[in-house]
Amino acid sequence: MISDIWCELYEKLTITLKDQFDILVEETKKYFLESANQIGITILAYLLFCITFYYVIAYLKGGSDYGHIKNMKRVLFVTAHPDDECMFFGPAILKLSQRSDCELFLLCLSTGFRNKYNQGSLRKNELWDSCDILGIPEGNITVCQNSLLPDDPAVHWKESVIADIILHHMESLMIDTIITFDKFGVSRHANHSSIFYATAYLCMEKKLPENSKAYALDSINILRKYSSLFDVPISYLLSSYWYIITLKQARIIQKAMKAHKTQYAWFRKLFIIFSRYVVINTLKEIEIVDLELDLLLNE
Ligand SMILES: *[C@@H]1O[C@H](CO)[C@@H](O)[C@H](O)[C@H]1NC(C)=O
Ligand SMILES: *[C@@H]1O[C@H](CO)[C@@H](O)[C@H](O)[C@H]1NC(C)=O
Repeated sequence: MISDIWCELYEKLTITLKDQFDILVEETKKYFLESANQIGITILAYLLFCITFYYVIAYLKGGSDYGHIKNMKRVLFVTAHPDDECMFFGPAILKLSQRSDCELFLLCLSTGFRNKYNQGSLRKNELWDSCDILGIPEGNITVCQNSLLPDDPAVHWKESVIADIILHHMESLMIDTIITFDKFGVSRHANHSSIFYATAYLCMEKKLPENSKAYALDSINILRKYSSLFDVPISYLLSSYWYIITLKQARIIQKAMKAHKTQYAWFRKLFIIFSRYVVINTLKEIEIVDLELDLLLNE
């Protein structure tokens, strides 16, 4: 008799517990679905916002001077390897080459010569082809073949050697603006950073020709780096100078990249599709105060 009552009670208890559990599962499911829905809608809205923003800036405002560095007439881009110019500096080069008030020059510090098959001259030709597409004529390009700057893992590029080369070029070409990598060099390639440090050295020592300025290309985190035009709003908010191009112009950069035949490997094809450096470049002036602060923080 007593055991019967217990049995009944036990059954009831398990049933209510089971019900409770089912309700909990149901509620949780609903909650997750709703959240997923909301997140999905938010992401979609953000992507749409990015596309609209990009469209307005690149297509409607594209012709204006907004974001352009004022007062530059003779501009020198300094890169480390042939193909840096279109992998990283494409939008700036393309935009500036279309201006009548800017004359462009490129200094590439190595031929990217890496093996015994004498790829050096091959890559130089590729660089000329690529720049021809981007709008810098062969006569405005210098490729260094300095034995002090070998493309060799065992050799550290001396900043003082680079600084001398840059200074020499700025003086002989009467350059008023140089544009190069920042200290992270976009891809953290040590050669890119060495150019920044050489330039920073020239700034700190006040060795840059009078009235000339130096600008560095912003490096960004990997997520932003590969989000193509979806990075445009953030870039725009965070920087003072920018060059944004239309998708049609971005195809010119892709074409220029193809001119680097020996380098056109699958990962570069992917890069050129997803990279934000194919639609937008943001720049920051290299200033002594910032450099000093940096030194202080690193001490
Ligand atoms: C190339 O350099 C010359 C001067 O040497 C200059 O007149 C010309 O504008 C430059 N080309 C471009 C595309 O900037
Ligand atoms: C320059 O680049 C090469 C690879 O391309 C690297 O092996 C070398 O260490 C670099 N030199 C530096 C950072 O000084």
